[in-house]
This record gives sequence, C-alpha cells and structure tokens, in this order.
Amino acid sequence: MDTKTFDYLYNKAQGDSAESIMKELEITAEEYAQMEQKLAPVLAEIMKERAQAEKIGERFLHLTNYLYMGKSDQEKGMHRPPAIKPRTGDQIALPAVATIPLPEITLHQAISQRRSLRKYSDAPLSQEELSFLLWSCSWARDFRSSERLEITLRNVPSAGARHPLETYLYIRRVTGIKPGLYYYHPVKHLLVLVMNGPEIERKIVEGCFCQEMTSASAVNFIWTAVPYRTIWRYDQRSYRYMYLDAGHAAQNLHLAAEAIDGGACMIGAYCDEMMSEALDLDGTEEFVIYIATVGKKEPVITVH
Ligand SMILES: Cc1cc2nc3c(=O)[nH]c(=O)nc-3n(C[C@H](O)[C@H](O)[C@H](O)COP(=O)(O)O)c2cc1C
Repeated sequence: MDTKTFDYLYNKAQGDSAESIMKELEITAEEYAQMEQKLAPVLAEIMKERAQAEKIGERFLHLTNYLYMGKSDQEKGMHRPPAIKPRTGDQIALPAVATIPLPEITLHQAISQRRSLRKYSDAPLSQEELSFLLWSCSWARDFRSSERLEITLRNVPSAGARHPLETYLYIRRVTGIKPGLYYYHPVKHLLVLVMNGPEIERKIVEGCFCQEMTSASAVNFIWTAVPYRTIWRYDQRSYRYMYLDAGHAAQNLHLAAEAIDGGACMIGAYCDEMMSEALDLDGTEEFVIYIATVGKKEPVITVH
C-alpha cells in the first residue's frame, strides 16, 4: 500500500467529500474517479469491518479474561517455538557489551531529564553507543534451549520470558555502518543487513506518516512481535502481554538514549500495511508493534 492509497481509504472511511480528498491528495477528478473504481472493493471491506471494530477494545479486554482461555498449545503438549527468528545476510559484529564504557549519568538524572526528542544533531552515534542502546532494550543476556523450552533472558522483563519481540534498525548515522535496514540478533549481538538503498528509507518514513523525526534521526528502532512465541503459552491473552513487553523495551531505550546525550521519540502512529511491506512481514505471524527514533541532542546555543 502506498501513501496515496492509504490516505484515500482513510479519508473515504471518515466520510470526507470528494472535493476535500482531491485537495488533500492533490489529485485531479479523473485520478479520483480511477481510485474510486479501483479501491471500491477494499473500501467496502473496510466499511464492513468497521461495524465490528466499534467497541473492539472492550470486547478484547473482556474476551482475554482468563475465564475464556482454553488450554494453551504448551499445555496441549505442542512443540515449543524457537526463541529467535533465523536470519541470513551480511553480518556486522557490534562492540562487545562488556567492553562498553558506561556513560556517567545517574538513574535519577536519566528519568528526570527524559523527554520525547524529535529534533537531533547531525552527529552520528558511535558503534559503542548503538551497542549500548541495543544492550538496554533488546540484548539477550542468556539463551536457554532444550527440547521442551527455548527462551532468551534480556535486560527487560517479558511475560513468561517468552520475549516475542524482534528488533530491526533503520540506520542512517552510525560511524562505520552503511545506512540501511538491519536485523539485530539479540544472542550473537550483531547486525544482519536486510536491505539498503533509498527505497527502504522512503518506505519507512512514509510508513510512519512522514513524521519529521523519522527522517532526522540517527537510527530508527522498529520492534516487531512474533505473537506465537507468547501465544504458545498464554493463548489470546498474549496480545495484552506483547504490548506491555514492548513498553518495557521502549522505556529502557528512552533512558539509555538520555545516557548517551541523546534522546528518543516513540512512535505508535504508523501505517500497519506500509510498515509490514517495508520489513517484508506478513503482518500477522510477525508485525510491527512499536517504533522509536533516536539521535544525539542538538548543541545548546547560549546567547550572551
Ligand atoms: C504509545 C506511544 C505512542 C506514541 N506515538 C507518537 C507518535 O506517533 N508521534 C509522536 O510524535 N510522539 C509519539 N509519542 C510520544 C508522546 O507524544 C509523548 O510521550 C507525550 O507527548 C509526552 O511527552 P514526553 O514524552 O516528552 O513526556 C508516543 C508515545 C507513546 C507512549
């Protein structure tokens, strides 16, 4: 899905007039008519689903009550899912976590100075700084694998240690690393190149509705969830837990970014379809759950 298609469908579903949609999308009456014809079945499907979407939050809370849960796949004896998604591609080793000099900032300072930062300096992050950020939110301090169970343990908590989150980075400015989309391997602490080139950057920025910080940041963290990892144990209640897990990872990143004289901004406003396409995910077995932009703070200019 591209931005124009999304905007057309969104505005149509909101009941906006043809005139206002043409104006917003900057398209002619002819182009509008073409879109209308082409997207009629998609729009019809959206309008049908919309009726069900009403009060879905309340229904979700209600139906993920323990009383409605059946036996989980784990309880049924189904084989355990892997704790990490296998990924192949060019690898970049990151500085070992144990050797990273930790910045001198107190927890009190990090918490009290944290703000959503949407403007960044042009300074790149060093590989040590990137390594530190990943250590804070995604790194696996332990990996345990047996026939019965496979888990990672990280610096953030996760319901049942299921850790359903995967971490992708869109790197723009990290010293010695070419811009591109990378997958982070939490056990091996390395990056795997997924894709580079201008197209992937455009897709990610547009997928985040062109919010300015997504094209100003040094790195965009994109967390995905692999729901079955948690569902295997907690069935549908897992959809509560995955989002809580993502919040833990994000807050650690937020505070770690403060510690390197940087900052972060969380992003929940993104287009599901565009982000799935950008990362080549099916959007169900694995989907984008949370995004964060990170960069160094702009220098403070004092006027005398
Ligand atoms: C779940 C979540 C989603 C958010 N999504 C966005 C977003 O899409 N764009 C944005 O500019 N800020 C986003 N934010 C940042 C909030 O706007 C910000 O935290 C809030 O305004 C409070 O400001 P502070 O973080 O500086 O204290 C998000 C924050 C959270 C927790």
